[in-house]
Amino acid sequence: MADQSSWKEYEDRIAAARSAEELAAIEHEIFSRKSGTMTLALKELQTIAPEQRRTVAQELNEWKKKLEERLENRKKELASPSDESLKRDEAIDVTLELPGKERGHLHLIPEFIRKVEEVFGRMGFDIASGPEIETEEFNFNLLNIPRDHPARDMQDTFWIKSKNQEGRLLLRTQTSPMQVRYMQSHKPPLRVIAPGKVYRKDSDATHSPMFHQFEGLMIGKDITLANMKAVMITAIRELTFPDAEFRFRTGFFPFVEPGLEVDMRWRGDEAESREGRWLEVVGCGMVHPNVLKNCGIDPKKWQGFAFGFGVERMIMIKHQIPDLRSFYQGDLRFLRQF
Ligand code: DAH
Repeated sequence: MADQSSWKEYEDRIAAARSAEELAAIEHEIFSRKSGTMTLALKELQTIAPEQRRTVAQELNEWKKKLEERLENRKKELASPSDESLKRDEAIDVTLELPGKERGHLHLIPEFIRKVEEVFGRMGFDIASGPEIETEEFNFNLLNIPRDHPARDMQDTFWIKSKNQEGRLLLRTQTSPMQVRYMQSHKPPLRVIAPGKVYRKDSDATHSPMFHQFEGLMIGKDITLANMKAVMITAIRELTFPDAEFRFRTGFFPFVEPGLEVDMRWRGDEAESREGRWLEVVGCGMVHPNVLKNCGIDPKKWQGFAFGFGVERMIMIKHQIPDLRSFYQGDLRFLRQF
């Protein structure tokens, strides 16, 4: 007949069971009608001398109750694990050193975006993020790019078949819609950057169908082009090199007036650079009065600047990476260099 230690063993096995199936097998072993250890032990009671039967029966019934309870509890735990059981069963020692294996690290892009947040954070900018599936309204119309405007063609758009109540949907081609979203939900004065992914039908050494930008916006009573230049120069130097070489050129973007572009000088072998000596990395300018109006901000009282940086392009300059597609190929030999 089963003794104390075998009941104790069942108790331990129930606690250690990892699945409902395992638990059911143990339950069967103890309680099955024909051959269950407990079933048999209870039957055997009749063969025991009457003077001992009482104590043995009492003991058996206690174990019976206890094991039934344990089975019930463990069943519940396995169905929806408690914090305690998760800690016990699912614990992974993340500090474990794998001998000979290298450590992981951030990919170049998120690492750079962290740096961007730090640099602009120091200049008093907030950080915002918005949807990658945008409406035509935010991505174009409210940014002073109406439907028939030729500037629409500058950004080859991935359209989405379905619409929502606000109109046609697309994968945002730029982070600029975040200017509108932020100005509609915050009162000036304001200072914000919005990093994120953008999408265009484009692929070559300096273009990818998905890439990263960060948008910036600063609105106040007397913010001027000079403030913009100062912020651009500080950001470029901090994000690449203290002695970075760059140039400002006039450029056209419907949502700013005047508009400028900033090119950075390629530092590596010029033969390697597909775009030549200069690579365009930033578009910027003074926010167009129409855009301010579209956001409910009075252009007679407020003015400011906006800018959009190409993240991959900044990193290409910084690390002399000639082909932007290397970022996405997941080649460890490339990733390990940084
Ligand atoms: N959104 C523009 C692009 O993707 C870049 C840009 C230009 C952003 C000028 C701006 C700006 O905020 O003022 O080409």
